[in-house]
Amino acid sequence: MTLRQDLNRYMESDFTSIDVERLAHLGDHRKGKVRDLFLGDKEILMVTTDRLSAFDVVLTSIPCKGAILNAIAVESFRRTEDIIENHLIDVPHPNVMRVRRAEPLPIEVIIRRYVTGSLWRDVEAGTAGVYEIDLPADIKKDQRLDELIITPSTKAEVGIHDEPISRRVIVEEGLVTKELLDETCEIALQLFKRGEQLAAESGLILVDTKYEFGVIDGKLVVIDEIHTADSSRYWVADEYQERFDAGQPQRMLDKENIRQWLIGEGYMGDGEPPEIPMDVRLDLAEKYAALHQKLLGAEFEVPSGDVQKTLYDTLDS
Ligand SMILES: Nc1ncnc2c1ncn2[C@@H]1O[C@H](COP(=O)(O)OP(=O)(O)OP(=O)(O)O)[C@@H](O)[C@H]1O
Ligand SMILES: [Mg+2]
Repeated sequence: MTLRQDLNRYMESDFTSIDVERLAHLGDHRKGKVRDLFLGDKEILMVTTDRLSAFDVVLTSIPCKGAILNAIAVESFRRTEDIIENHLIDVPHPNVMRVRRAEPLPIEVIIRRYVTGSLWRDVEAGTAGVYEIDLPADIKKDQRLDELIITPSTKAEVGIHDEPISRRVIVEEGLVTKELLDETCEIALQLFKRGEQLAAESGLILVDTKYEFGVIDGKLVVIDEIHTADSSRYWVADEYQERFDAGQPQRMLDKENIRQWLIGEGYMGDGEPPEIPMDVRLDLAEKYAALHQKLLGAEFEVPSGDVQKTLYDTLDS
């Protein structure tokens, strides 16, 4: 069977929701857009489902996305643990991370090497000033920047869009102290440079990425997921220049594929979302699997059994 056929078969049992009752013994349940969390005092069990969110709205599911994201996040944590401690304890199931519970900082730290995606949309709309950063005056879409830039956002409550913010305003509003913010940004830059290096070894460009940080026992720790196709953009490196020079879109191995499709349908997070066709979902699943293959050097194996069943079998006590 081809990967497409495997993904197609898997779609019949897409993993989008959890029988919370069956896992209630693991802690208080909290449903994020993509992950379901079971919160203990010191630990969290983070179950990554196949749900896809775009523009902060859960829109559909992408076959095998959860397991692929989990695998990439786990390996990315391992490959960066010399830079900063992360929250990962272990991986009891392909869709699950057991992590240390942190006090999350109320911001997301987005690092960018290229001007694209939401930042390009901000530049075009004349609203990029909110970040209070310097961009070249004649900047073009998908242009590479010599210096990394940081475009933070607030971490909004459920149902509210994250808002762009500048470092200055983060401190002014007392969201994070200047000292802690400086430390956080410095580490985020180091993490990004490592991510870039690892991507380059796989023939990819790490375009931009989002980090979340938290504090555990007074210490800064990187949490959530890192360097995944949900939190990052990846482009195919050897086609970058030619496509950029010709003003063509880049070959993307990440969630931006579906954002572009949605924008084409006139949807950007408000109003009634369009129905997402099966082919669009399978195309994105193939992109996620390709990213797994390139970054981890191993083909993603579509599970043959029912993910939910193996999850309960593993986690039921
Ligand atoms: N170690 C940790 N300690 C505490 N919270 C964490 C930790 N790691 C991740 N989180 C939080 O867990 C949630 C992960 O779930 P998910 O990504 O599905 O939610 P989200 O859609 O990003 O956000 P939300 O639904 O909370 O607005 C995020 O709110 C993230 O900040
Ligand atoms: Mg999240």
